[in-house]
Amino acid sequence: MARLPVSPAGGGPLATAPAADASGAGPAPAPKPARSSLLKKLKRIRQPAVVEAPAPKPAPAGPLPQFQPFDMLATLIAVVRSDGVVCFANAALEDALGISRKAIEGSQFADLLTVPEIMRHAIAGAQTNAFAALRFETMLRRPAHEPLPVHAIVAQAERGNEVVIELLPLEQQTRQDREERLIDQAQANKELIRNLAHEIKNPLGGIRGAAQLLQMEVESRDLIEYTQVIIHEADRLQTLVDRLLAPHRKPHVISDVNIHEVCERVRSLVLAEFPRGLQVVRDYDTSIPEFRGDREQLIQAVLNIAHNAAQALAPQIAEGEGRLTLRTRIARQVTFGRQRYRLALELHVIDNGPGVPEEIRDRIFYPLVSGREGGSGLGLTLAQTFVQQHHGLIECDSVPGRTDFTLMIPLP
Ligand SMILES: Nc1ncnc2c1ncn2[C@@H]1O[C@H](COP(=O)(O)OP(=O)(O)OP(=O)(O)O)[C@@H](O)[C@H]1O
Ligand SMILES: [Mg+2]
Repeated sequence: MARLPVSPAGGGPLATAPAADASGAGPAPAPKPARSSLLKKLKRIRQPAVVEAPAPKPAPAGPLPQFQPFDMLATLIAVVRSDGVVCFANAALEDALGISRKAIEGSQFADLLTVPEIMRHAIAGAQTNAFAALRFETMLRRPAHEPLPVHAIVAQAERGNEVVIELLPLEQQTRQDREERLIDQAQANKELIRNLAHEIKNPLGGIRGAAQLLQMEVESRDLIEYTQVIIHEADRLQTLVDRLLAPHRKPHVISDVNIHEVCERVRSLVLAEFPRGLQVVRDYDTSIPEFRGDREQLIQAVLNIAHNAAQALAPQIAEGEGRLTLRTRIARQVTFGRQRYRLALELHVIDNGPGVPEEIRDRIFYPLVSGREGGSGLGLTLAQTFVQQHHGLIECDSVPGRTDFTLMIPLP
């Protein structure tokens, strides 16, 4: 991209400023900041020493007037001074970071990124005219959210001592990639699970039967203990295999589903298990219409997610500060699962726990991936399968202190 002009045009044109060329031929003369400061000086001289009614001051709040047009752009924009300090942040950047313009302005811009060094070099390079515009990909740190991948463009402004930084969020792209990966992953999982479960199930019956026969034959108590271990472990494996096969076996029971009934059921089940120290907050959009689906499957899916959250919240629950939020919303014109939907249901299950362990964050929907002592790593695989059977998808956004599992299901 070419160098970005930072328009010096401030508030309104001065009364004495030459009118723009009405014929349209040739560029309109740029307003001169020097005139405006002259006028201000003149005004100051003309003011009486004792002022009864103070002259109206220019509004102190809001962005510097010359940067105001940036507020209308969806691109995230910051203007930084030669020392890398932000002197302007536009509304889109404010939104993306979730912090006020005031808090951004005055801070070192590079510190807003996960790897500040590259940005520091880029700002220094733009200042020394080492390049017209430098482009690179980086990550914007966001309090209470995962970092936002962005494409950064760093260029010198018209006024030599300022650098304009544009950030184009790549989230849309990465989200789509991530969703496509999830769908492919789920498909591969399904095949693998079904085949593996059948392979285990068949010999398992034989092992258990043989152990039972052996138990009838042996007389020594010590030996019976061994056969009991075999039977017990075979039963445990049988339960696991049944769980693995459940989503592939169960015939669907399709009826009208009210998502809030699903949430309420999950809420009471979770509260029955964690009666103290856990608050389950409802944040429902009651205008969400009913849709056709398998109610029991959806209860199981949401319960698996909520149950994980409650388990992860153990330290908070012990302190009486566990919080689980069930939030429902309608999303319009959304794309997930490679399809665009006019309307979709979004159900967020949010907890204030420690977050999904980083080392398994990318794999939690895989079967047998668990970060928990004694966990079988099937809860989320099953939940994802059930939601996908409703043409939906589950996504996870997790940072310490805030984990948000979002179920998206198309609405009619
Ligand atoms: N809300 C959460 N906060 C923190 N970690 C989570 C959360 N939800 C899931 N996890 C992590 O993801 C892992 C996988 O979850 P999943 O439900 O698939 O398996 P599991 O809970 O280990 O076993 P189970 O089959 O009994 O559900 C969990 O072990 C946990 O480490
Ligand atoms: Mg689980």
